[in-house]
Amino acid sequence: MKKVVLAYSGGLDTSCLIRWLKDKSYDVIAYMADVGQGSDFKTYEKRALMTGASKVYILDLKKEFVEDYVFPALKAGAVYEHKYYLATALSRPLIAKHQVKVAQKEKATAIAHGCTGKGNDQVRFEVTAKILAPQLELLAPLRTWEFKTREQEIDYAKRNNIPIDVSKKSPYSTDINLFGRSIECGVLEDPWQEPPQEIYVMTENPLKCPNKPTYIEVEFEKGIPVKIDDTKYESVALINQLNAIGGANGVGRVDMVENRLVGIKSREIYENPAGTIMHTAHRELEALVLDRETLHYKHQISYRYAEMTYYGLWETPLKHQMDAMVQKMQERVTGTVRLKLYKGSCEVVGRKSPYSRYNEELATYGDKDKFDQKLAEGFIRLWGMPY
Ligand code: ARG
Repeated sequence: MKKVVLAYSGGLDTSCLIRWLKDKSYDVIAYMADVGQGSDFKTYEKRALMTGASKVYILDLKKEFVEDYVFPALKAGAVYEHKYYLATALSRPLIAKHQVKVAQKEKATAIAHGCTGKGNDQVRFEVTAKILAPQLELLAPLRTWEFKTREQEIDYAKRNNIPIDVSKKSPYSTDINLFGRSIECGVLEDPWQEPPQEIYVMTENPLKCPNKPTYIEVEFEKGIPVKIDDTKYESVALINQLNAIGGANGVGRVDMVENRLVGIKSREIYENPAGTIMHTAHRELEALVLDRETLHYKHQISYRYAEMTYYGLWETPLKHQMDAMVQKMQERVTGTVRLKLYKGSCEVVGRKSPYSRYNEELATYGDKDKFDQKLAEGFIRLWGMPY
């Protein structure tokens, strides 16, 4: 019997998949990655076994997710098409990496996922797995299996006594982890329709947020946030805390039409309170400490890094080399940023750093001015001379 490790979420698709793969005479190992989605893993574990999995793995990947995926992307300033903080995209290479490890440990010959053939996630899972373990067979049954509608799958589940939650049927397709939440489908498929309030779970409706602003200070060390208002946090706790503060102030909602890898545009809604706060603060700190040329060069890398992440190219040579360069650029990204959160907005109102390149004596228009304005004339003549 061939062994397959299935990335199992506990949802309808992957629940049916356990049975479906078994019927194709695979020995199915269900693998669940805990990236902070808050699933009831114990219940899903029982269900997977009831449905026919021979074994279930539940791996807590939260710390690794934050430290090796979220923070490097933060340091890189990676925001896809200037709006998407990549919460889903960042989790995929991590989930794939451990899926491959489980497959190797179990001597499985195949791995499977429950992504459709229209999305980005299939690409991210498969490209990562292919790079890390080229010999593994990759199975993506949703692209070809016989079920055309959700109803047909529910039918199949009922016929085969597969336990599922049909009660919480929602018109939306969502993905959640500790760094953020993605929402698509339903009325959102019309880009002209305003998203209904019911789709949000991490962020409060800005209209219902406190009537006075919340100020927070985020302290960074070499590009990584370490303290909030003078309290030190471990990495996962820090993200949770920023999600709570940001979410309570309605911060982090994104409504966008994005370019998918497979060539279509799609309307997506994101909730990313911690990401919004961290990226806003980090960008501002870099503006204070990096020299102009490094900063401008960094902005170009950011765009590229976001593309690489979105495109599933996390484990490629160029992406790793960009990490090395970004790391070097973070040596002086240490300091504190003060932000004002208010009814959905997240504004920087103060920044300081021991490595600040801001020189008040040069910048001031007051009487402490040390800038020699006479030098400007020669500078401008040479600057414009080539033209
Ligand atoms: N468009 C986003 C991405 O490609 C989110 C996909 C989320 N998946 C979902 N089932 N809603 O990263």
